[in-house]
Amino acid sequence: MSSPLIKLNSGESIPAIGTWQSKPNDVARAVEAALSNGYRHSDCAWTYGNEREVGEGLRASGVPRSEVFITSKLWGTCHTRVEECLDQTISYVAMNANGNHPVFPTRPNGNRDIDESRELKDTWKDMEATKGRNIGKVKSIGVSNSPLLNDEVAAEVPDNYSLKTPDVLLGYPLAKGMVVLPKSVTLVRIEVNFIGASGTYSKLTAEDVAKLDGVAAGGASLRLLVTPPWGVDLGFDTGPSQLVKM
Ligand SMILES: NC(=O)c1ccc[n+]([C@@H]2O[C@H](COP(=O)([O-])OP(=O)(O)OC[C@H]3O[C@@H](n4cnc5c(N)ncnc54)[C@H](OP(=O)(O)O)[C@@H]3O)[C@@H](O)[C@H]2O)c1
Repeated sequence: MSSPLIKLNSGESIPAIGTWQSKPNDVARAVEAALSNGYRHSDCAWTYGNEREVGEGLRASGVPRSEVFITSKLWGTCHTRVEECLDQTISYVAMNANGNHPVFPTRPNGNRDIDESRELKDTWKDMEATKGRNIGKVKSIGVSNSPLLNDEVAAEVPDNYSLKTPDVLLGYPLAKGMVVLPKSVTLVRIEVNFIGASGTYSKLTAEDVAKLDGVAAGGASLRLLVTPPWGVDLGFDTGPSQLVKM
């Protein structure tokens, strides 16, 4: 089974189902298993320090690099150094560099190390410029987010089609034309998530999608609040690491 593709405004087609990683040593194994099961997209992040293991998993899978879309994320520490951060990511994935970054680098006061004075639009301009130079380092740029849905509502949808709730949760963003990155380090879940998401999204009706949209719109989604603290006003109440009903 092959991954559905989503056409980007850059002209590239991005595999709509990807995978994520977890703690060190699980990462390479999960990426290898995912690629062997048909996934063609992995995310990683400078701040997770997991790029090298993504490269390891890619090589171990035997899937050609040209078939795989790798997404990384520019961390707030590096907003004035877009291309330098990109170069570091590329060298880690290519396994030309040693060592890892700390997960969520912090300042001495414990807050996340982010550049508060930097305007996001200026960072975006630098990302556009890096992409625009067409230097073969980046295919596309974009933003990422990870909404979590309330299982109780999602659980009502599959009754209509004999689907499992995780299939609906993964198929829902696909049905909306979004890329989904179903993180799992569990081999059987890596396999069933790919099959379930691929088989579900075309079955969901506009009514199903509207119902699931209503979960987030109604403020009932779950949000993970994490530490260390951001140290800036994010516009909503942040707290200790926990899952809260919004
Ligand atoms: N959270 C964020 O702020 C954020 C921001 C930007 C991008 N992302 C990206 O979004 C992706 C997903 O991140 P996330 O935060 O949503 O992941 P997550 O909640 O940290 O991990 C998903 C959890 O679901 C479990 N799971 C996976 N498949 C399952 C199944 N079929 N049945 C039951 N449980 C299952 C996994 O368990 P096992 O691994 O043990 O199987 C894991 O505990 C990642 O690629 C991440 O990099 C996240």
